[in-house]
Amino acid sequence: MEMHRTHLTKQEEKILRGGSGEGTQKALELLVAIGDAFDAEKMIPITRAHAASSGQEGDLYFVELLANGGARCRVPTSTNPVYDAEYFDKLFAAPRKEAEVARRVMMAYKRVGAILSWSCAPYLAENIPLFRENVAFSESSATPYVNSVIGARTNREAAQSALAAGIIGKTPEYGLHIRENRRGTCLVRVETPLKDEFEYGLLGYYVGKKIGYGVPVLTGIKRQPTTEELIYFCAMSNTSGAISMFYIPGFTVEAATVKDAFQGEASKDKIEVTKLELKQVYEELQTAKRTTDFILLGCPHYTLKQIEHAAELLNRKKLRQNMDFWICTSATTKMLAERNGYVEAIERAGAHVVADTCIDEPCWIAYKEKTGMTDSPKCAYYRRFRDVRVAKLEDCVRTAVKGKPD
Ligand code: F3S
Repeated sequence: MEMHRTHLTKQEEKILRGGSGEGTQKALELLVAIGDAFDAEKMIPITRAHAASSGQEGDLYFVELLANGGARCRVPTSTNPVYDAEYFDKLFAAPRKEAEVARRVMMAYKRVGAILSWSCAPYLAENIPLFRENVAFSESSATPYVNSVIGARTNREAAQSALAAGIIGKTPEYGLHIRENRRGTCLVRVETPLKDEFEYGLLGYYVGKKIGYGVPVLTGIKRQPTTEELIYFCAMSNTSGAISMFYIPGFTVEAATVKDAFQGEASKDKIEVTKLELKQVYEELQTAKRTTDFILLGCPHYTLKQIEHAAELLNRKKLRQNMDFWICTSATTKMLAERNGYVEAIERAGAHVVADTCIDEPCWIAYKEKTGMTDSPKCAYYRRFRDVRVAKLEDCVRTAVKGKPD
């Protein structure tokens, strides 16, 4: 029998021999390979997972492999947005081949019994870990959010490893599942006040880019950051870099002091962030020199509070001619936004609120050669459009509505 560095129980050995079906076997094979690569001693139980599903062929291959082999999720496993093909087909059709891939991905996740949340902020509503739970969460904002804001424990998973963990209900014990590896690695002195999520997004983008990989410990932040500010920091720092966890001692849950965050050791690395660094990042992200054709918000998916804010700004306004305006969110949040009348106010202005959809999917093909504007440094970073301007929500609305050309 093949030997593994990761110790397996008799039950796990049986799964590896195919005793629970081929799909489950494939899922465990992947987890054992990861465990061996990272010298994990054993597999540990997880309570939930989040798979960063997407309408891409690689994702389709793996989820269909497991679904066709009869695998089913043993713990709640939520899914990332793909896109709402029906909604887009009414406006402009996505390319047929890609639409078919997205449809099959979504069907396969259903067959493995995942929670069809199609949301990149599942930790807000559909799949919320508790403090110290071991989980397997992929997706840029989700990994650092559940580690840092909630104090659950996850590695920076891929869609495939998170899905495999959801199917087995276990993950190899390594990395951020081990307390010592959650020690801070770099002190980040924030020497400028941060007003809103947009500025937290710029901070995250800078910190991720500067540190690359590690556990930053932020000081100088004077007030409790809002949920949206934390989401933007998470998404951007884990996009420009690979920041799976951070501390803001006094505000995030796991370390009350800077000393606790570094587990009593001195920090070797230190960086400082002033207004100047945020301005540099802001300017670096602007590629647009032309007039804006469309606004794209909700990367990560907008919260109810952000949709309410957009509705207030758009209320009794009309979009300029040839201007398109999109807000992406989860189906859960959209339903609440409808109940509260926010969707109506937004649609009256001529804008759309679309559920289940990621900004990085082929449904946006119609904008490929156009100029967009977004409040998300992550969306700008992907460079999926001819060019992009990054600005606060207020500026996006000002640009989009009648009488205020950019
Ligand atoms: Fe979410 Fe897609 Fe942006 S998953 S964070 S909308 S790139």
